[in-house]
Amino acid sequence: MSLEGKNALVTGGASGIGAATARRLAAEGAHVAIGDVNEQGAREVAGELDGFACVLDVASAASVRAAVAEVVGALGAIDVLVNNAGTDRFAFFVNTDESLWDLVLGVNLRGVIAVTHAVLPSMQERRTGAIVNVASEAGRVGSQGSAVYSAAKAGVIGFTKAIALEAARYRVRSNAVAPGPIETPLLNSAPVQLGELGERLKRGMVNATALGRAGEPEEVAAAIAFLASDEASYVTGQTLNVSGGLSMW
Ligand SMILES: NC(=O)c1ccc[n+]([C@@H]2O[C@H](COP(=O)([O-])OP(=O)(O)OC[C@H]3O[C@@H](n4cnc5c(N)ncnc54)[C@H](O)[C@@H]3O)[C@@H](O)[C@H]2O)c1
Repeated sequence: MSLEGKNALVTGGASGIGAATARRLAAEGAHVAIGDVNEQGAREVAGELDGFACVLDVASAASVRAAVAEVVGALGAIDVLVNNAGTDRFAFFVNTDESLWDLVLGVNLRGVIAVTHAVLPSMQERRTGAIVNVASEAGRVGSQGSAVYSAAKAGVIGFTKAIALEAARYRVRSNAVAPGPIETPLLNSAPVQLGELGERLKRGMVNATALGRAGEPEEVAAAIAFLASDEASYVTGQTLNVSGGLSMW
């Protein structure tokens, strides 16, 4: 699964699945850039990998433009884009308001769209590239306490397919992973935000998996590295569940 000689941008690479992905891509030989709102965290992970770090807020068009220009300046062209940055605010839908909708859609859906819009033209010009979007089982089967997040992730899955169709003629592939419950700060913010109810929601997700356990970030990173690599040269428009069998379609 070599990524020797490829330049990769991982959004949200300061923590969790993004950090594990940055480490895995680097281990496969890629030169990795991390863009994150958490500048300190991004620098720490990039420092381990001899990689590049920059501040990036995927929900801000100006920040996306500036960060992508910085990454291209530092690495040269981007061969692999991992749209991983994401966030959630756990609440039942009737208790949400527009500020939550804007935040959750802005980061999880508009963020994927904005970064792809900034990176795809040069991939198409160069007739090479692989995009891997981090969606979620929430976007496939829905997730209680995460209605707007589920909508955003379903949007990411549709976007992944449309880009696969449009970019195929330029030899650019677009795929997604749909993680189930993965042990990261994001999953564990459900109990923090909702207390005992959040704990029950997390347990419910874990119990819904066939394997009966939460996943580790490295298990998602392995699937992302495969989809990003030439080993997946005949795979595009797909969403690969990495969810311990939470859903099987
Ligand atoms: N953990 C899970 O159970 C799970 C399940 C399905 C999907 N996911 C998805 O995996 C991805 C990674 O999440 P994680 O679980 O590793 O969480 P995490 O909280 O550990 O990491 C998320 C990272 O994204 C960054 N980020 C947040 N908002 C950002 C923004 N506006 N711009 C740039 N960076 C931003 C954070 O600073 C953090 O470094 C997300 O897209 C998430 O929705 C996670």
